Amino acid sequence: MLVSAKDMLTKAKKGKYAVGQFNINNLEWTKAILLTAEENKSPVILGVSEGAAKYMGGFKTVTNMVNGLLEDLKITVPVALHLDHGSYEGSYKAIEAGFSSIMFDGSHYPIDENIAKTKEFLKIAEEKGLSLEAEVGSIGGEEDGVVGTGELADPLECKMIADLGVTILAAGIGNIHGQYPKNWTGLDFGVLRNIIKETGETPLVLHGGTGIPEDMIKESISLGVVKINVNTECQLSFTAATRKYFEDNKDKEAKGFDPRKVLAPGVEAIKNTVKEKMDLFGSTNKA
Ligand code: 13P
Repeated sequence: MLVSAKDMLTKAKKGKYAVGQFNINNLEWTKAILLTAEENKSPVILGVSEGAAKYMGGFKTVTNMVNGLLEDLKITVPVALHLDHGSYEGSYKAIEAGFSSIMFDGSHYPIDENIAKTKEFLKIAEEKGLSLEAEVGSIGGEEDGVVGTGELADPLECKMIADLGVTILAAGIGNIHGQYPKNWTGLDFGVLRNIIKETGETPLVLHGGTGIPEDMIKESISLGVVKINVNTECQLSFTAATRKYFEDNKDKEAKGFDPRKVLAPGVEAIKNTVKEKMDLFGSTNKA
């Protein structure tokens, strides 16, 4: 059964580790992540952007697919199904379809409007027992056509949103979605410290987990980050493994054209990436 992300993140905060949010794109992705979480005895958050939900057919298809896999694969670790960067309308749709966790991303609204809309979702989340992630200041890079500028969040605005009682807060600290440019200056731990000073106990999330060096990941966790989002890195490892399959002409051998064979190396690659991240984030054996 799907659970809210609240308990797993509260435990992570106490235990000083982070839970990974891994974004899903299809059945193979979802299976790979769930099986790895189960093998690693790790809690996990499945992230779904609105674009990915649309690609898979819609929010209901996603919820039914994930619920079916939890049952058929006998998954026992805590799993949250989380809307990633939800719009106002999209957040309502995901709630209706049975998602257990919502990110309402109001970062592009003026702060007062972000607060008002976040409050609206907080009320629903509390009624339905869902976790709610909010965002202050957009996170750089491109995600589903939304381009941010690599902002650093204003700690006082973070406090305004954290004080509402949201489950998780996303705040830009120099992180970027997608691959990091060569001239990236790294995470700004000064800003992170100031945000933590203002937001106290509110669990923080680090978006743009792909390509952040291990020492920066570890420092973020030691300072209080409890959720780390990874999307692009699974896409890169899946695509590299699939490319190799064709370059090695495996599709020309026996039944090598069978999609179940074609997709198998990519699935293994996603599993390896997810396992690596769970070990790095410290969530392995914490379910
Ligand atoms: P990456 O694609 O950079 O890993 O970022 C994922 C993310 O933050 C999803 O919200």
